[in-house]
Formats: sequence, C-alpha cells, structure tokens
Amino acid sequence: MDSTGTHKAHFQMSSLADLPAAASVLIAAAQSEPIILFEGQMGAGKTTLIREICFQLGVQENVSSPTFALVNEYEAADGKLIYHFDFYRIREEREALDIGAPEYFDSGRLCLIEWPSMIPNLLPEHYLLVKLQPALDGEVRTMIINQV
Ligand SMILES: Nc1ncnc2c1ncn2[C@@H]1O[C@H](COP(=O)(O)OP(=O)(O)OP(=O)(O)O)[C@@H](O)[C@H]1O
Ligand SMILES: [Mg+2]
Repeated sequence: MDSTGTHKAHFQMSSLADLPAAASVLIAAAQSEPIILFEGQMGAGKTTLIREICFQLGVQENVSSPTFALVNEYEAADGKLIYHFDFYRIREEREALDIGAPEYFDSGRLCLIEWPSMIPNLLPEHYLLVKLQPALDGEVRTMIINQV
C-alpha cells in the first residue's frame, strides 16, 4: 500500500514456489477491495493464482475455471462465499448480464474475475487490477497490481 492508501505493487515470481507469497499479497489487498480482475494472455497463470488464493482462504472445493456457468461459487473457511468468473468464452456482454454479474460484483463478497476485458461496460467503478506477464522463456512471471 502506498502513502495515498492505494495498492500498487510489482511482484516477481521466479517459479511456482513464489505463488503463495503472491496470493498472500492479494488476499491482504482484498480486505479493502474485494473485486479482483486478472488480466494476462492464455496460460499466464490466472487460474493458478486464483486456485492458490482460494486454497489459502480454506476453500475445500476444486478450483478450476467455470465454463458453461461463467461463475463458480466456493465457500471459504470462515463461511464467506467467493465468486470465480471466467468470461473468456462469452460472445457478448449480455451473457454476463444474464447471470447477474453486476449483482455478484455488488455483493461485497470476494470476486475473482478472469478475462474482464470481455465485459468492459459491466465492470464496477473500483477494483484491483492484476496483470500477469509470463517471461518469454522459463518460468518467471511478473504480477503487477493496481487499484482502480
Ligand atoms: N507462477 C507460475 N510459475 C510457473 N508456472 C506457472 C505459474 N502460474 C501458472 N503456471 C503454469 O502455467 C500453466 C497455465 O496456467 P493457468 O491455467 O493458470 O493460466 P490462465 O492464465 O488461467 O490461462 P487461461 O487464460 O487459458 O485461463 C499451468 O500449467 C500452470 O502450472
Ligand atoms: Mg484460466
């Protein structure tokens, strides 16, 4: 967190071993902003990071990208619900509206969103934006966090 109280961070992951620390940073940031958008090309590591976040929050269910339903619901150890979205496959934003995406975003629950670029007009006003960039070679990935 910087002096203005907003989250902005650059985090280097050299291997999967760094994933837990990256997830912890996001869990801490989510205390003040529960909507987290994950950007990054296919295979960038969005689902993997979300799986680790859910693991640390005590989710027992299998965490994988929702396909047909667009949203998965998990229960954390404290009983709070977590919503995991993947909008990669939608053809129009209407499909996100049909599942009630804005209501989920307004719920105050933790919302973890893959492929938010597919729903530019439905995004809430404030969120954490996480960009994942894999290096061209090897396992190094950079995680950039910005609060919007
Ligand atoms: N931090 C990391 N370090 C090394 N390997 C990783 C890391 N994160 C993910 N991977 C590996 O990269 C592969 C793809 O990851 P993942 O499925 O999470 O990508 P994704 O961004 O969700 O892709 P998609 O857009 O297709 O949903 C997996 O095999 C995973 O093990
Ligand atoms: Mg994914």
